[in-house]
Amino acid sequence: MTDDQPSIADIPNDVPTSARAYGWLLGGKDNYEVDRQFIRGQLEHHPAGLDITRQNRLFLYRAVRYLTAEAGIRQFIDMGCGLPTDANVHQVARQFAPDARVVYVDIDPIVLAHGRALLAGDERTTVITADMRDQDAVLEHEDVRRLIDFAEPVATLFLSVGHHLPDADDPKAVLHAVMDRAVPGSHLTFSQVACDDPVRSAEMTEQVTSAGIPWQTRTPAEIDALLADFEPVEPGLCNLVDWRPMDLQPPLAPVPEELRRYEGASKQDTGIYEYGGVLRKR
Ligand SMILES: C[S@@+](CC[C@H](N)C(=O)[O-])C[C@H]1O[C@@H](n2cnc3c(N)ncnc32)[C@H](O)[C@@H]1O
Repeated sequence: MTDDQPSIADIPNDVPTSARAYGWLLGGKDNYEVDRQFIRGQLEHHPAGLDITRQNRLFLYRAVRYLTAEAGIRQFIDMGCGLPTDANVHQVARQFAPDARVVYVDIDPIVLAHGRALLAGDERTTVITADMRDQDAVLEHEDVRRLIDFAEPVATLFLSVGHHLPDADDPKAVLHAVMDRAVPGSHLTFSQVACDDPVRSAEMTEQVTSAGIPWQTRTPAEIDALLADFEPVEPGLCNLVDWRPMDLQPPLAPVPEELRRYEGASKQDTGIYEYGGVLRKR
């Protein structure tokens, strides 16, 4: 890792952040009351939020397993990687490809603060603080240049971050900036919160945006259009629970006690879900 690291004092604790709030849903401990309040409000309106977050993280395991074991990928850029948890990309990848290299990217400096401890002494994995919307800053970063060889296929992960790229940020350009540099055979892995109901979708977008977190819930058709230039691998873009499900896969950390009453809510509250998949550059 390099020394461009912000101090812990840079991390705001008076507004919720996506990394900390999402981390709580995954069973993480690195969050503040303001993050938990934000989640409580969200789950009141959208009780499936707990399940779909966890379904996304389980998808991460299956996607990285596919990318290493079946697609032969050995280098990863994980955009909006979030706080470290149990099965992080480099740990999953190395189960199938011990030589895998990973660059973690997140806008929230708390991720760097925690990633630093996890990755100490690991020369093939790093975490950088950068805005994925500024792809020059990401792609020209010295750690990316050191670890990622764009002459070889690369997998770029945008997992549960598509909703953090509203249309005003030109998400297609963000996805293309990295994929245009990648050789054919490279892969893009994408997921985001989706909703078929435009009224509910707009309501969620407004709620999260007004909490200070850039956000746009999309319909599956809108997500398909965003990703139209890439070739989805089987089974295509779908609700993540349907993407190559496995009977057994490593479990996530337990759901925080306070949130247990929301477990299983996605079976009733079927209107929102995480939608995405793995796509190949032709
Ligand atoms: C919902 S979490 C997803 C974490 C992880 N990708 C996963 O799927 O488990 C979204 C993450 O994206 C990060 N993020 C949001 N906007 C970002 C941006 N413009 N650039 C980099 N990271 C961003 C947040 O800080 C947060 O850690």
